[in-house]
Order: sequence, then structure tokens, then C-alpha cells
Amino acid sequence: MHTELSFASLPEIKTDLLAVLAADTQTAKGPDAKPAPELLTADEKVKSATAQVLLSGEFKGGANETLLLHAPAGLTAKRLLIVGLGKSAPAGMQAKATVHSVRHAAGTAVRYCKPRGIRELAFALPSTEGLLSAGARAAVEGAFVGDFDPDTYRSDRKDQSIQSFTVVAPSGSDRHAVEAAFAEGVIVGESQNFARSLVNEPGNKLTPTEMGRRAAKMAKEVGLACEVYSTSKLHELKMGAFWSVSQGSEEPPALIVMRYEPAGVKDGPVLGLVGKGITFDTGGISIKPADNMEKMKYDMAGGAAMIGAMRALALLKPRVRVVGIVCAAENMPDGKAQKPGDVQTAMSGKTIEIINTDAEGRLVLADGIAYAKQLGATHLIDAATLTGACVVALGMVNAGAFANDDGTYAKFNAALQVSGEKFWRLPLGDEYMEMIKSEIGDIKNTGGRWGGAITAAEFLHAFAEDTPWIHLDIAGVAWVEDSKPYIAKGPSGIAVRSIVEWARQF
Ligand code: BES
Ligand code: MN
Ligand code: ZN
Repeated sequence: MHTELSFASLPEIKTDLLAVLAADTQTAKGPDAKPAPELLTADEKVKSATAQVLLSGEFKGGANETLLLHAPAGLTAKRLLIVGLGKSAPAGMQAKATVHSVRHAAGTAVRYCKPRGIRELAFALPSTEGLLSAGARAAVEGAFVGDFDPDTYRSDRKDQSIQSFTVVAPSGSDRHAVEAAFAEGVIVGESQNFARSLVNEPGNKLTPTEMGRRAAKMAKEVGLACEVYSTSKLHELKMGAFWSVSQGSEEPPALIVMRYEPAGVKDGPVLGLVGKGITFDTGGISIKPADNMEKMKYDMAGGAAMIGAMRALALLKPRVRVVGIVCAAENMPDGKAQKPGDVQTAMSGKTIEIINTDAEGRLVLADGIAYAKQLGATHLIDAATLTGACVVALGMVNAGAFANDDGTYAKFNAALQVSGEKFWRLPLGDEYMEMIKSEIGDIKNTGGRWGGAITAAEFLHAFAEDTPWIHLDIAGVAWVEDSKPYIAKGPSGIAVRSIVEWARQF
């Protein structure tokens, strides 16, 4: 998708479709309450072209509601699309548009065009104070998110992708700032889609080796250092936990190590990004039921998020060192597979009693975290489709977040305000750690049914130890189960935007 930023006046924009925003400002309640959509543009010609339809009551300005006009009077654009922002202002706030409602509206406009054969569009930013730069960035991010469809393997696939997306910023805006934010949005949006394209690949195509290849190819393109290791390196590093997951598969594991080292930055923090890259999770000997097992191709979404985040960081060039580690393996049952009752020695030296071979994500991450620390990481963040329990707790709306350090989490929370991604912090605690103590070894890999997302996090905590660390359990949100007006059903690319923003705060 080609992207452009324009400061031209709206009536002059020559495009197949111009999207403008309207908020729902209705305050009255009850059956007689009239819709009160308010157009968020100061342009008189756009106002008069839409005046009648906005008075008609046919359009409320609800979130992601759309209304199309052909040949709008007084405008050069062939079509005018009004996109609703909803009552986006949280209670008590005056803003009629937020950066997050703008992001969704851009995605909605793009997804309106795609099935209708409209290949180019322009998107008018609202002239809301404080939303010019952030809005430009969010709009272009949202457009990339909307442009993605997971249909690459369909032979009847029609290429409906958008050719050109133009953000139109009000002419009075600080051009320098808006241009910079827009350029960031392009990088972040493309990187999120890169992660989604990996998650979308089936397990037979995206093996651990192939995941390593794709990471290495990307790294070369953006100027990141990247090494991909396999079984012998796992043995050399004594990664007994990671290796134990791979031992039942014909596919060798891949330890992907990406480094971003900005010139001249010799001290300060080193961020360690660690991703779960299970390219297919059958459960192993503790095999999963057949129903929905096909979904387990997305069990590498945490790893894909880290690869996408590293891509964005390489291009955004923040002044902080970052190492990205993805532990990729296939979890299979086989004559050589690990068994419940086995004891594994992790890289850190801790011994792990395997209770359930389906709790494999924490095993690969245990060694990934230990390795990130060995490579000098001072702050850690991991992302994983780790537990069904997290999905039970938070549904498919919020992802789970855990942290052993409030200051580090505060930075992440600030990043969420920019990214718009939904994470909800859950607790850690010694009582949960007690639940995974083993009588046979130091720790066991499951703690029973209750609090399963937390005991999984405590397992990782035992390897992160006192290093400031954040754990993201994205099991419920890595795959969009019901399409929305602004995003297709399929891989979400969750966590890329938040991790990138978190890293930029150091
Ligand atoms: N990959 C799964 C978790 C998962 C569940 C991801 C649903 C996406 C959607 C993970 O490896 C797993 O199997 N976890 C087990 C752990 C249990 C055996 C302690 C689970 O959650 O059931
Ligand atoms: Mn599993
Ligand atoms: Zn898994």
C-alpha cells in the first residue's frame, strides 16, 4: 500500500473516495431522541455536501458506522464516505475523537473500499487539538491493519488490497511534526502486518527453520544483526527446557537472535524481547483434543510479535539497545517426545518436573529469558500465547499482562495509551509460586487448574528472577475470531505496537 500525506484543502483532493469523520454527540435519551452526528471538519464544502443526509437521521455517527455519497457537490473526490467515531469520549472528557477511534475509523474506511473495488482513498483527519500528529500516525496504522486479509492461500483470491492511502491533515498543522508521526505510523503499521503474515502461515509452511529464515531475511533488509541457531547450539547453551519441547518433532528447533545496536549507544539499558515461537502445538504426549487443534498454528504469535517489533525498531532507530530472541519449536508426540514425569534441566540450572507436555510455552521461554539475561538484557519483556486460563479470565478482549517491577510496568502502561492495545494487569505472588513447587525437582511446569495464567507467569518469573520483567499472555487476542469493520478475522498482530512504544520510552 502506497501512503501519502497531504495538507491540501478537502475539496481539491482528487481521489476515488474521501473519508470524513463524524462523532455521535447525541445526549438525549428515549424514543424521541434524534441522532446528532457532528462532522469533524471545518471545511464548508464538505459540510454543505453532507448537511442534508446528516439532518435526515439516517446516520448516527456510531462507532465505525458508514454512509456513502456519490459525486458529492462541490468536491473533486468521486465519493464521500462518512465514518462514525461513536461516542468516543470517555465520560467527562470533551474530545469527540480519540487517537484510538481515528485508528479504527481509518481501518473501517479501508475495509469499506476493499470489497467494492475501490483502490485509492483519502482520509481527512479531524481538526481536533492534540490529534494532528498522533491522529496522522494512528490513521496510517489503522489503514495498514485494515488492508490485511488472511487469504493468501485461496486460489479464488481477488487481490483487493488498497493501492494508495492518503492522510489529509488540516493545513494549519505543524507540518514537520505531522510528517514525522505519519512516517512512524507507516513503519509500525507495516511491521504489525509483517507479524500477522507470519502468524497466518500454516504449520507445514512455517516450520521453526522457516521462521528463522523469514526473520533473517527481514533483518537483512532493515539492517539488524540476526543469527539463527538450531539443536547443537541449544545443547551447547544447555537449554534443556527449550530442547525438550523440540525433541519429539522431526523439525529442528530454531533459536532466533536479533540485535539492534544504535551507533554510539554504549551504555544504558539493554532491552530483551523474548517470544514464544511454537509453530504448531499438538500438546505433545499430553495431546490436545482434535476440536480446534488447527488453531494451534498461531502458537508462535508471541515470537512473530517480537520479529515485527524488531523490524519497527530497526527503522525507527530509538537510542536504546535491544536484543530480540524467539524460541521456535514444534510440539509433537513421537517416540522421542518428552513424557509427563520427565525431569529437564534448564539453562539457568533449575530442574523442571514435566507434569503436562502441553505446558510447553513456558519451557521454551524459560531458556529464552535466561539467554536474554546472559546477553546482557537489563529489562525483559516476553509475549506468548501461553494459557487457555488467560482466555477464560479476560476473554478475547484484553490480553493479560504481568510484571515484577512497577516502574517498568508504568512505562508499558504509558505505551498502551499510544498503541490503543488492550492489556489488563494480573497479579503475581508467592502463594502462586508455591503452587508450582515440585517434590521431584525445583519447579513443575503446571500448577493445576486454578489461576493457570498466573502460575504460568510465576514459572517465567522463576527464570526472570529480579531482572525487571513484563510478561504478556496473548492467547485470547492473537487471533481475531469475529471480523470487525476495521480488522479481518485472522491474526491480529497484537503486542507489536505496544512493545515498540515501550522500547522507545527508554
Ligand atoms: N498454546 C497453548 C495455550 C493456548 C490456548 C493458546 C488457547 C491459544 C488459545 C498452551 O501451550 C497450552 O496448551 N497451555 C495449556 C497449559 C496447561 C496444560 C497447564 C492450557 O492452557 O491448557
Ligand atoms: Mn501447549
Ligand atoms: Zn502452546
